[in-house]
Amino acid sequence: MPGNAIEIEGLRKTYAGGQEALKGIDLAVPAGSIFGLLGPNGAGKSTLINILAGLVIKTAGRVRIWGFDQDVNPRQSRAAIGVMPQEPNMDPFFTPRGTLDTQAGLYGVPKAERRTEEILEMIGLTDKGDAYARSLSGGMRRRLLLGKALVHRPHVLVLDEPTAGVDIELRQMLWANVRRLNEEEGLTVILTTHYLEEAQEMCDEIAIIDKGELIVRDRTEALLSRLDGKTLVILPEGEAPDFAPPPGVTLERRRDGALALGYSRSETSAAEVLDAVRAAGITPRDVRSEEPNLEDVFLSLTGDRRKAG
Ligand SMILES: Nc1ncnc2c1ncn2[C@@H]1O[C@H](COP(=O)(O)OP(=O)(O)O)[C@@H](O)[C@H]1O
Ligand SMILES: [Mg+2]
Repeated sequence: MPGNAIEIEGLRKTYAGGQEALKGIDLAVPAGSIFGLLGPNGAGKSTLINILAGLVIKTAGRVRIWGFDQDVNPRQSRAAIGVMPQEPNMDPFFTPRGTLDTQAGLYGVPKAERRTEEILEMIGLTDKGDAYARSLSGGMRRRLLLGKALVHRPHVLVLDEPTAGVDIELRQMLWANVRRLNEEEGLTVILTTHYLEEAQEMCDEIAIIDKGELIVRDRTEALLSRLDGKTLVILPEGEAPDFAPPPGVTLERRRDGALALGYSRSETSAAEVLDAVRAAGITPRDVRSEEPNLEDVFLSLTGDRRKAG
């Protein structure tokens, strides 16, 4: 097993119309991880993923998938990856069983080694196995696309906005499958999503791209801890008296009577905030802290760039 499932160097894509979708991306995705590729609309996420999938031809740069250079070993690098694209492309006259079987054939999986039934079971389409694809609901088509990406037992699974516009049930089913494949089969997973909460929960590591450039890449916790702002929420014993927060600390009274004290970690410690509360004659009945979330990180990074132009 290579250390990195994917290695990208100096990746550029300029579309025929002159649109520079990727402006030189360097990125490594560790094998065995669940990796989130985030960024605003038009950032270049799908372009990058479609290059990995072999659906878009790169303008410049190097891509290695599972150690195989896309240009030197195209067949091996293609066999190592399975992609669930953002735009579903599906033959409406195929059945799910037929779709999976044909896809396996395209990848040269011998009949005896195909796992059509196992995949149908996993994506919950066993009883729809022989229905025409055009009769499937949107959610079922998505599930079939996931199944298609897995027929050749790839090392790397790439999901482009798999949960955009799908219901909660399908989302949970999708993530449960992704987690299980990652944990039990060691599958490396790369996903893009608009739902930052989802990325925060699912991904070990995250890269954010914006306007074709990589702006940050880090472990999810490390990314979250970059933000300096923190909030201590104190539920007082009884009614809280008037309280002027110390300098550098903001106070917001919540509806449930809690005091939310905002401070920056580099300037103030939680102990100082608590001391000030006690000094004001407030006895905390309950204390909890609110961490910054990925949305805050995202806005602070992409927002700053927008302001800068
Ligand atoms: N086939 C294409 N031809 C020309 N421009 C494209 C094509 N696909 C995407 N683009 C442009 O490239 C940029 C990145 O798009 P995309 O990779 O789809 O971003 P994302 O998936 O992050 O929303 C956008 O400006 C988009 O308009
Ligand atoms: Mg996209």
